Amino acid sequence: MDVWILESAEAVAVKAADICADLIQQKPDARLGLATGTTPQALYAELIRRNQLGHLSFSRIETFNLDEYLGVGPQHPQSFQQAMRNSLFAHVDVDPANTHVPAGDSPDPVAEAASYEALIKARGGIDLQILGIGRNGHIGFNEPGSSLGSRTRVKTLSRATLRDNRLGKPDFEAPIMAITMGIATILDAKALLVLATGEAKAAAVAAALEGPLTASCPASAIQLHPDATVILDPAAAADLRLTDYYELVDQARRRLTSR
Ligand code: PGA
Repeated sequence: MDVWILESAEAVAVKAADICADLIQQKPDARLGLATGTTPQALYAELIRRNQLGHLSFSRIETFNLDEYLGVGPQHPQSFQQAMRNSLFAHVDVDPANTHVPAGDSPDPVAEAASYEALIKARGGIDLQILGIGRNGHIGFNEPGSSLGSRTRVKTLSRATLRDNRLGKPDFEAPIMAITMGIATILDAKALLVLATGEAKAAAVAAALEGPLTASCPASAIQLHPDATVILDPAAAADLRLTDYYELVDQARRRLTSR
């Protein structure tokens, strides 16, 4: 696990954009796994900026989002599909046909989940999966208790997630179920890019990075991944115990790159 503790949320977004840009440069038809929520918004803004400056093209990129609310169609204002259009897709040169989000309004959500899983595999798998962490340690909508071997499926949201999702949207009756990639689906990505900012995430980050590997903290599954980069601001890193070691790694990294 490669842990970066950077000076601010802005620096987290820039570093994350650098990692995405490096991948896109090496592999212009890369498959990106995307997340909704507050955390990746600054990253998406930075990717839009670079795309509009002509430094980065999404024209051959294919994207797969982690999850979607059940019963919510792509045009619903609170759908994740709509959120992705607003925060990224509508502002970059990605082909909308190459942007995949589970169909939350499918008449057969169980079959939709299975076919989403199959689509990811058929396309060759995800090169880089972007992840936020919920305050309860969830990744995607894999709530505490989710099997570490889970695949894309229908999940019930926890009360904590329902509360968090309603913050700032008093009129939104958030659905209590979703289709989400499973933890094993996420771990199949060739690389993970985990982002967390703000003090509300400090406990979940510490549990995920330094706690036991457990279904009670689904984000702890990233410990199993051989290529996981975690980028934090100081507030999200506040409860970590191995900070001294992460700093040492950073010094060693800088020494190597300055040679
Ligand atoms: P947030 O959500 O980025 O809105 O905090 C993260 C998550 O729930 O995975």
